[in-house]
Amino acid sequence: MAEDLQIIQGSKAEQYEALIPQIKGLLEGETDLVANLANTAAALKEQFGWFWVGFYLVKQDELVLGPFQGPVACTRIRKGRGVCGSSWSGATTLIVPDVEKFPGHIACSSLSKSEIVVPLFKAGEVVGVLDVDSDTYNSFDETDQHYLEQIVALLNC
Ligand code: SME
Repeated sequence: MAEDLQIIQGSKAEQYEALIPQIKGLLEGETDLVANLANTAAALKEQFGWFWVGFYLVKQDELVLGPFQGPVACTRIRKGRGVCGSSWSGATTLIVPDVEKFPGHIACSSLSKSEIVVPLFKAGEVVGVLDVDSDTYNSFDETDQHYLEQIVALLNC
């Protein structure tokens, strides 16, 4: 496993292309899910500098806060609630250019302005979500969706 992350400049796609092999290296040989979620959140935060990057995991009928990087956050989110709970119930990635315009958005921080949430699947079921928040509007697009979906597929949920 690489000890230091190599941070690169460039387009968003170039940054993801350089980051993904490094995330694969971090995950290689490690089977513990929490360890892998923690390093993935750290790698994304380090490369992109987003405001908040982290995971929520499905536990019974709620999402419960998992490994993350950034300010303290809400610990429990019900299915269908907020962006995370909606991504879970719809089993789909959600891109939110302006969180204030998303009905039911859960404001863990007033500094968060845009967000992308990507579900994690195990045997076809959503078992958690990756949530990324930015402190500027319109930070996420289909490029993020494409690469973040690739990244969560590497996690052995
Ligand atoms: N904004 C999210 C809640 C999680 S925090 O942003 C970390 C939502 O609406 O689901």
